[in-house]
Amino acid sequence: MAAPEASGPEPEDLGIRASQELAARARAVLPTAAYEFYAAGSDEEISTGEAAGAWRGRRLLPRVLRDVSSVDTGVELLGTRLAAPVVAGPTAFHRMAHDEGETATAAGVAAAGSLFVLSSRATCHPEEVAAAAGPWWYQVYWLRDADITRRQVERAVAAGAQALVLTVDAPYVPPRATSGLPLPLPEDDELCRSVGVGTRLPGWEQDPSLGLNAIGRLHQMSGLPVLVKGVLRADDAKTCVTAGAAGVIVSNHGGRQLDRAVASADALPSVAAAVGAEVPVLVDGGVRTGTDVLVALALGARAVLLGRPIVWSLALGGAAGVTALMDSYRTQLSTAMALAGCARIGEVDAGLLHGGY
Ligand code: FNR
Repeated sequence: MAAPEASGPEPEDLGIRASQELAARARAVLPTAAYEFYAAGSDEEISTGEAAGAWRGRRLLPRVLRDVSSVDTGVELLGTRLAAPVVAGPTAFHRMAHDEGETATAAGVAAAGSLFVLSSRATCHPEEVAAAAGPWWYQVYWLRDADITRRQVERAVAAGAQALVLTVDAPYVPPRATSGLPLPLPEDDELCRSVGVGTRLPGWEQDPSLGLNAIGRLHQMSGLPVLVKGVLRADDAKTCVTAGAAGVIVSNHGGRQLDRAVASADALPSVAAAVGAEVPVLVDGGVRTGTDVLVALALGARAVLLGRPIVWSLALGGAAGVTALMDSYRTQLSTAMALAGCARIGEVDAGLLHGGY
């Protein structure tokens, strides 16, 4: 089996194979307020607590006597070739985890042959991130002041973003642990500083009146494919695709928005069925092992995104830590595929699931 070993410095020491250990080790090196900001869910944190278990609760029916002497985890996503269907999702404020912030994350993801989604709540200049990145997408919150949104998008397009991710599950931000730390935002950059608490420009908050036409407007503004992130319902997913979405990301925002929103693992099958095979459906929330990735693909996802594990590995090992994490997911997925009788991603389907969808 051509399962590559995890690379990067001392991956075992980073605890990348055990996500709980990874989080615990990150907690030990991060200031308490930063750790709590990253780890938090909203309200009672029910959705945050349920996310990983929803993947782990699924059981597989492995196929045998298939030739799995060579396993290929590679996929193509909106025209971009990835080493594995595992993407670094958008999370805010990486310089609270590591001095080099999103620039280090982008470099680490690129070295692993994957794709980085840069949050619009970033703490580095997008141009610097772009210079370090391989393929990257830009995540957008549509703000009350649409002009800030437009300037952010134009800047991301000029820097080379290949797609936009419009996050739609956050018309408001509910109560959750927030950092008491001052944000290390670029002093000289009005647009970057606009994301910071205490340095906000007027109109910084998300626009709660946002409607379906935002998808088309963003596409027109940028000329880029627009994926919609934060969809949990089949009817919404279909409507987004009809309105021009190039992809749908099934997500409950890591349990940070509506608490008790359904686990993305449980929402995924109906969304994938409604959208069909033409448009990619991605998913995030509690994906912690390569076997979770296999289950997500079997349930209809084209790729998964990682949230907190990226931040933890960044805090522990900078760019090399992120590379080691991504490599570890790829290695684990390769092993799980081989043991399930799949030599290629295209062979992973719902038939692998005990009890079906
Ligand atoms: C997020 N998430 C997020 N999503 C988004 O679209 N824009 C953003 O700026 C952020 N910021 C952010 C910060 C932190 C600290 C977390 C934990 C999450 C949500 C993120 O993209 C993703 O949906 C979840 O994190 C996935 O769940 P896991 O992998 O963290 O369990």
